Amino acid sequence: MHSIPATMTAWTKTRDEEGGFSLESHPVPSAGPGEVLVKSQSTSICGTDIHIWKWDDWSRKNVPLGTITGHETSGMVVGLGSDVDTHAVGDHIAVECHLACWSCPRCEEGNAHICENGSIFGVHGNGAFAPYFVVPAVNARHVPKGLDPGHASIQDPLGNAIHTLTGGPIEGATVAVHGLGPIGLFAVNAAKAMGASKVIAVDWDNTYRMNLAKELGADLVLGKDDDVVASILEATEGRGVDNSCEFSGSAAALANTIHSTRMGGYVNVLSVYGQSMPNVPMNEVVFRYLHLKGINGRKMWSTWDTMHDLLQRGLINVDKVLTHRLPVSEFEAGVQLAISGDCGKVVLDFDA
Ligand SMILES: NC(=O)c1ccc[n+]([C@@H]2O[C@H](COP(=O)([O-])OP(=O)(O)OC[C@H]3O[C@@H](n4cnc5c(N)ncnc54)[C@H](O)[C@@H]3O)[C@@H](O)[C@H]2O)c1
Ligand SMILES: [Zn+2]
Ligand SMILES: [Zn+2]
Repeated sequence: MHSIPATMTAWTKTRDEEGGFSLESHPVPSAGPGEVLVKSQSTSICGTDIHIWKWDDWSRKNVPLGTITGHETSGMVVGLGSDVDTHAVGDHIAVECHLACWSCPRCEEGNAHICENGSIFGVHGNGAFAPYFVVPAVNARHVPKGLDPGHASIQDPLGNAIHTLTGGPIEGATVAVHGLGPIGLFAVNAAKAMGASKVIAVDWDNTYRMNLAKELGADLVLGKDDDVVASILEATEGRGVDNSCEFSGSAAALANTIHSTRMGGYVNVLSVYGQSMPNVPMNEVVFRYLHLKGINGRKMWSTWDTMHDLLQRGLINVDKVLTHRLPVSEFEAGVQLAISGDCGKVVLDFDA
């Protein structure tokens, strides 16, 4: 039986400034009705954590000072709240960070990831840069047997990649991935694993990530020295790709996706843009009869089912994308590394 301490030390956003994290003492939370208490094993650093580190306008509005952040995490269940019969102590889980009410119209139609009353674990409330956390049992997803905890922790961005890809055709289709951050790299890997006939990977100037995309099986890798639109058209008999996925956060890349998707094709956008009104060629969307779709989070639970199937069959080369693992004590160095871009995914590990 695991003995649970009364207090714990956790990385906490305490100061109203860039950086502004400190290690603070908190009570170990206890699982309320329908919740599980989890001992953290690995928590990975997400772009959202970088926004909170930089303390931009969005973070100031959404993250209360004093919050323990961190939402991409895996761990072991060590306590059960009342009414929990889906989990047992000792289960290995990873967190779906979109907390839903399960009773609003969006939840009832199967779109709990855009719940009208939703909140995000580790953003709006305490998360997992802490040795223990509580989460609704339904958000604690059992992980495929024997999966490395670091690999289990990256299912949030891997799921983002798969959710975006599945907004259009994949098997037998031509796919372009714009922006080769961790999510774009997972998309390159997943598109190949799901049977895309050709995967074109596009970044701007991050040659480290462009090389990783090549190693993950991209058929063609493009960057700032290429005419991206002309190169994609040339690689697709002048038509453009069937399925364009946008992960760069760059308005220029979004325009490129529209110009290089075939007539009647699919443009799926996960990116969040620095400017909320990116300059996009809308008439091209109309005349080319494109399907333009915004993507948020992961479908609960079809994205998870697809992801677990791919992971179980060993088709996702997580080690290639997960380039750095640090102990959680090196949280600040991990964030700086993620900001530098000289990395794929950075994962923080807790003591066993
Ligand atoms: N909607 C959601 O639910 C959700 C969830 C997570 C992340 N996001 C967003 O998804 C995007 C991807 O996240 P990430 O952490 O993988 O990104 P990241 O910021 O680590 O990587 C972006 C990459 O795009 C490249 N890039 C810059 N300009 C480009 C251009 N013009 N063309 C092609 N590539 C270009 C950069 O060099 C970088 O490698 C971000 O915009 C993030 O905010 C959305
Ligand atoms: Zn995330
Ligand atoms: Zn809801």
